[in-house]
Amino acid sequence: MMKVLVTGGLGFIGSHTVVELQNKGYDVVIIDNLSNSSIDVLDGIAKITGKKPVFENLDLRDKEKVIMFFKKHNDIAGVIHFAASKAVGESVKNPLLYYENNLTTLVYMLQQICELDQKNFIFSSSCTVYGQADKLPITEDAPVKPAESPYGNTKQIGEEIIRDACKVNNDLNAIALRYFNPIGAHPSAEIGELPIGVPQNLVPYITQTAIGMREQLSVFGDDYPTPDGTCIRDYIHVVDLAKAHVVALERLFQNKTASNYEVFNLGTGKGSSVLEVIQSFERVSGTKLNYKIVERREGDITAAYANTKHANEVLGWKTESSLDDAMRSAWNWEKKIRG
Ligand code: WQD
Repeated sequence: MMKVLVTGGLGFIGSHTVVELQNKGYDVVIIDNLSNSSIDVLDGIAKITGKKPVFENLDLRDKEKVIMFFKKHNDIAGVIHFAASKAVGESVKNPLLYYENNLTTLVYMLQQICELDQKNFIFSSSCTVYGQADKLPITEDAPVKPAESPYGNTKQIGEEIIRDACKVNNDLNAIALRYFNPIGAHPSAEIGELPIGVPQNLVPYITQTAIGMREQLSVFGDDYPTPDGTCIRDYIHVVDLAKAHVVALERLFQNKTASNYEVFNLGTGKGSSVLEVIQSFERVSGTKLNYKIVERREGDITAAYANTKHANEVLGWKTESSLDDAMRSAWNWEKKIRG
C-alpha cells in the first residue's frame, strides 16, 4: 500500500482528507503538533474507516526532527501539507509567528521531499490570494493581489516557494489547491470542525449560537453591493474538499500533470450570501437563528466564488454536496459534541 504523509492531519480539513485517503486504501501517516487540534480526532477517523492512522506528534519548525522523520519514513509516495497557522486576525497581530510557522516549515518539508524517490506534494492554499477579484467567478489565472493579511501572504509566498523549487527539480511534482470557504463535517458526525475559543468563521459561529454557546450571531454588514447587502462566499462541503485532495494526489501518482506545478480552485462555483447561509441553517435545523446586523468587519471582501471549469475538466473533480447538506452536517456535528 502506498504511504501518504498528511501534515496537520488531525485538523479540520486534514482529518477529513485522512478519512478519504484511508477509504481509498492508502497507508496514512499523520504529523501534527496538536497546537490547533485534538488527539481524539484519531479515534474519530478510526471509527469511520476502521483503521487508525500512524500519528507522530512533531512540530515542523524543528528541522532536525523533520529530517529524522523523513529518514524513518523514506518510503513516502506523496505528501499533503495542511500544517499551518490560519487565523487571519491573529496573523495581523503576530506576523513573524505566521512567517516562521507557515513558511520555514514549508522549506524544511520541501528539502526532505526532494530526497525521496517519489516527490509528490499537495499544498493547502486559499482563495485569499485573489483578494477582491476584479472578475467573478474567479479563475486560476486571476491576478494574485497584494495580500490583505500576513496569513494570506504566507499562502502567496508558499506557492512561489513551491513553484521555484519545481523549476529546479523537474521530478518534484506539486499541486496547489486554493480553497474557497470550507464548511460542514463528516456525515457520520465522528469528525468535524473544532474551533478553539470564539470562532472567527461564520458557520461554527452559527452552530454555536444555535446550540446556546453564543448569545447571538453578528452579521458583519448588510450594506455591501450584493442582492441582500451581505457578503458572498463560495461555501464548499469539507468532504467534497477532502475528496479533491485524493484526486489531485492520484493525478501526481499517475503522472497526468501538464507541468510539474499546477494550481486548482476548489469551490462549488456558487456564491451564497451570509443571509442565505443563515436561511439554509434555519431550513435544515428547523430553528430560528438569533442574529443582528452590525458594522462591517475590517478586511472583508464583498464577494468571492470559484470558476470550477479547470478543476472539473482538468482535475476531473466536482462538488457533490449542497449548501443545505453542508449546514446539516455542521449542525449534526455541533449537536454531537455539545448537545
Ligand atoms: C464569511 C462571511 C463575514 C463571521 C476566512 C479566511 C480565508 C479562509 C476561510 C483559511 C464574511 C461573515 C463571519 C461572523 C459574519 N480561511 N461573518 N459574522 O472571511 O470569507 O474567509 O475563512 O484559509 O482565508 O479569510 O470566512 O467565515 O470568516 O466569513 O457576518 O461572526 O461571513 O463577514 O462575509 P472568510 P468567514
